[in-house]
Amino acid sequence: MLTPMRIGVLTGGGDCPGLNAVIRAIVRKGIDRYGHTIVGFRDGWRGPLENSHVDLTIESTRGILPRGGTILGSSRTNPFKDAQGPDRIRESMRTLGLDGLIAIGGEDTLGAAARLHDDGLSVLGVPKTIDNDIGATDMTFGFDTAVQVATDAIDRLHTTAESHHRILVVEVMGRHAGWIALHSGLAGGADVILIPERPFDIDEACRLIRRRHSRGRYFSIVVVAEGAVAREGTMAVAGGPRDEFGHERLGGIGQRLEQEIERRTGFETRATVLGHIQRGGTPTAFDRVLATRLGLAAIDAANDERWGMMPALRGTRIELARLADAVAQLRTVPSEDYEAAEAFFG
Ligand code: F6P
Repeated sequence: MLTPMRIGVLTGGGDCPGLNAVIRAIVRKGIDRYGHTIVGFRDGWRGPLENSHVDLTIESTRGILPRGGTILGSSRTNPFKDAQGPDRIRESMRTLGLDGLIAIGGEDTLGAAARLHDDGLSVLGVPKTIDNDIGATDMTFGFDTAVQVATDAIDRLHTTAESHHRILVVEVMGRHAGWIALHSGLAGGADVILIPERPFDIDEACRLIRRRHSRGRYFSIVVVAEGAVAREGTMAVAGGPRDEFGHERLGGIGQRLEQEIERRTGFETRATVLGHIQRGGTPTAFDRVLATRLGLAAIDAANDERWGMMPALRGTRIELARLADAVAQLRTVPSEDYEAAEAFFG
């Protein structure tokens, strides 16, 4: 489009290394190439709900490429929690004279963006999550950084596990999908990997550890995704509070495994929870490049008024996918990927 547009941007859900790189790319190309004005909403959907915003300029986004987190702030606010939510967003966009809105987020933020688009709002998305579980894209930015952080931690835990002849359980993020556990477990040489897609059998996990020890290795590394669950009735984990989208706060599986593995095998076991360390800090070069490419494609899509779409990584190319397709189904770990990793268990 040749006429200058006014475009809003927000970042929603859990933060993720690379968010600032997306914002920077949208601002840089939006202003320099197209002559558009870019308005940032603060703290995810809370921004347009409360009309809390800030003008984004080339100057105000300088130097943010390597910075983790998001300069706009984020929240898990659900715009559909209150029946007036969509109208409030429409009103903020009207007051600010916005032609469209780019929502950078994961399953919940993009799900809300898809619904708002169905309601007639000019919204498009950019997929982000360290969990790597968004449909319609081959990978999300933030995942590579999280895997690197987890792999570095596993390498460190290896040496102390070996010195003390212990089992070390490493709990990593991954609510519905075990991508971080699988990739960091493979990269770090884990002896058992437990993921949400495969309810695990605690007896089988202990058998693998015992087998390894019977072969003369007196330490083991178990990588578990926070969303992993034991087969029904074999090992309970207490639930946490829920957010506005109904998701339970996870965490605790590592501690439960520590107790159960030590009780069942008799080997001293300790758990480490990596938690938000995986989400914080500077993005890897891969994530900076992917996030930048997605930001550039998002402002191109906004310029072309491709509302209801999102740029996605397909192979090595960035293409546009329908938001509705992206949120229809989560991208979980295929059985064959997990079975390939089993070659290294025990
Ligand atoms: O964004 C996804 C995620 O990293 C999940 O793996 C994890 O369950 C969740 O965020 C934690 O979110 P919060 O920081 O809001 O507790």
